[in-house]
Amino acid sequence: MQTLITVIEQIERELMISQDQLTAIAKKFKTAMEDSLADKDKTLKMLPSFLSVPTGRETGQFLAIDFGGTNVRVLSAQLAGKGQATITAQSSRPLKAADGSYNHIAATATAEQLFDFIAAQVAALVPDTAIYPLGHTFSFPAKQLGLNEAYLMHWTKEIATAGVENQDINQLLAAALARRQLSHVRPQVVLNDTVGTLLTSAYSDTHTDIGSICGTGHNTAYVEAAVPGFAAPMVINIESGNFNQLPFTRYDDQLDAASEQPGAQRLEKMTSGRYVGELLQIIVLELLAQGLFTNQPAALTNVFQQPAIFNGADVACLLADETTELTDIAAWLERRFTLTDTAISERQVLKRAAAAITLRSARLIAATFIGILLRIDPTLSRPHTIAVDGSLYEKMPGYAAAIEQALAQVFPQPAFPLTTRLTKDGSGLGAAIAVASAVAAR
Ligand code: GLC
Repeated sequence: MQTLITVIEQIERELMISQDQLTAIAKKFKTAMEDSLADKDKTLKMLPSFLSVPTGRETGQFLAIDFGGTNVRVLSAQLAGKGQATITAQSSRPLKAADGSYNHIAATATAEQLFDFIAAQVAALVPDTAIYPLGHTFSFPAKQLGLNEAYLMHWTKEIATAGVENQDINQLLAAALARRQLSHVRPQVVLNDTVGTLLTSAYSDTHTDIGSICGTGHNTAYVEAAVPGFAAPMVINIESGNFNQLPFTRYDDQLDAASEQPGAQRLEKMTSGRYVGELLQIIVLELLAQGLFTNQPAALTNVFQQPAIFNGADVACLLADETTELTDIAAWLERRFTLTDTAISERQVLKRAAAAITLRSARLIAATFIGILLRIDPTLSRPHTIAVDGSLYEKMPGYAAAIEQALAQVFPQPAFPLTTRLTKDGSGLGAAIAVASAVAAR
């Protein structure tokens, strides 16, 4: 007979990424990178950033915009040289109001509304009419033709604002700044958040050659030695979230089919904070439909079939409960969904499904890091630092450790340190560092 526990064991097996799979996925990822560099297959976009790694000696005060899709953050950063970068002022606002009063990321919103909202944030941080150089972290696939010319190829992370795709992001921003009488704010560089994270870590740690975001979205950048026509090694935004040679389950297919852009961003949809809650919901609803929750199925169905019931923070809450009776989860279910009297087996299943989803996420992402290392230094003949920012990496219990364990399985005793490191505020600080190095290079 199928019971809740036997079925969850089965699901755990389906979501497990074995060591063999880890290596196989890494090799496929490396090949996909190389196919893209050779213009054979562009599943991985491998977008040039026109930026090299900083020296750590860049100095100055710079403005930065960090636009990632959930919030827009504007900050002022002080670079003191010697690898020291600090945020001196900042403000952040959600792109979609919790009370529904505005939503700049829906298909009904326009490019002007979105960029006017960003410009208003900039205005709040600029006290006078002095010249302010600005770096713009724009965390979407953008085809870059120069440091400050980047066209949005298509939205990701379920954003749908009209009139931005195929446009020059910098021009949209410059026009909005002009409408706000902010022409003295001078955007100089557009960059991806993964690139910013890499630069921020490299500013103080010269071994950094990979930068990644494990947050609402997922993507990685790395330093490519041989970019034709560019003298120094260049940071490349892989747009790895679009990788698709992966062991999809029916849950992944169901999520993909219901998403804004079916077929796109398959790795991101298996790994990132925007989607892990949705995967959990799909699994829970399947178990309910199979009649495996017997305690109070009607009450559970009522709650769990509401759209987008779990977010990444909910998944983190489930994992954080270390009590034997899972009393924290019981309290959380009551607080969050007014669900009382849940059975311990139900709470166990929720936690185990959440754990299986996040462990898979960490191991798939580690596989791509291994793929990059196979491309840039397969024998690990020098130290490497992988800089990571984002809510999953920072806050999901066990997540960072799972990435490290997966790396250690494939590279058990590297001769030189292979380090993964949380790089907080990498996307914002990286924009300031990018401007500083662009100014220094002129
Ligand atoms: C999405 C975007 C990518 C970004 C990532 C993390 O994958 O396409 O550009 O780096 O999210 O924010």
